Amino acid sequence: MLDVRNLCKYFGGIRAVDGCTFTVNRGEITALIGPNGAGKTTAFNCISRTMQPTRGEVWLDGARIDRLRPHQITRRGLSRTFQISRNLADMTVLENVICQSRTRGWRDLFRPAMSAEEIDKAMGILDFLGITRIAHEDGSNLSFGQKKLMDLAALLMSDPKIILLDEPAGGVNPTLLEQIVGHIRELNAKGMTVLIVEHNMELIMRLSHRVVVMAQGRVIADGTPDQVRRDPAVLDAYLGGVLEDAA
Ligand SMILES: Nc1ncnc2c1ncn2[C@@H]1O[C@H](COP(=O)(O)OP(=O)(O)O)[C@@H](O)[C@H]1O
Ligand SMILES: [Mg+2]
Repeated sequence: MLDVRNLCKYFGGIRAVDGCTFTVNRGEITALIGPNGAGKTTAFNCISRTMQPTRGEVWLDGARIDRLRPHQITRRGLSRTFQISRNLADMTVLENVICQSRTRGWRDLFRPAMSAEEIDKAMGILDFLGITRIAHEDGSNLSFGQKKLMDLAALLMSDPKIILLDEPAGGVNPTLLEQIVGHIRELNAKGMTVLIVEHNMELIMRLSHRVVVMAQGRVIADGTPDQVRRDPAVLDAYLGGVLEDAA
């Protein structure tokens, strides 16, 4: 479904992503893992076109998307969350979810504040995530975990076919972690394709169908969780102890 080919992103002399190639199969949960600085977030930025890649190609459902604008990519069914939650101050959760979901570029400036349909849809999503009680909370009063759930809600507003999650459970407590995992599984069971960056190896190993391992801007291994766990290149390059603990 998603095909990333020789993706590169250079910041001056820093080769954040340096010839990254991998695919994501439709209907699967694929994990993108790798040590800090491996280039995972930058790859997400280039795929969702938050950043312009230096070179390389990104294909979604057989169409090249690396020259489209972010909202055009969202309209084609690809949405992503950000590693650092970006909520707009002085807005309620409901307003945040609706506002962040708008994908029509400058045309949105001329739309009414919130339509009845948008409110219905957003409330349905908050209900699915079990957070209707915070719908009218100010976004700036939320706990870190509630912000993560709000981000997930905003992501779902655009009816994506594939979602890119950048550390959706990073720094949350174990209870909320289980909730987030449950939501991801439920979405996937309904047909959503998922690409997820996460540092919690135990979570990744039980959640994903496939794992892609990045180091220094490149993919060093790719396979089922079991294959990757046993891959000597991965063990050598970085994860030995952590992966054995997860097993
Ligand atoms: N905007 C930027 N300007 C310069 N260097 C950057 C920028 N964004 C990321 N980098 C560098 O690119 C490398 C990859 O970063 P990142 O994609 O955030 O890795 P990861 O998400 O895997 O931890 C790091 O060395 C980081 O310092
Ligand atoms: Mg990152």
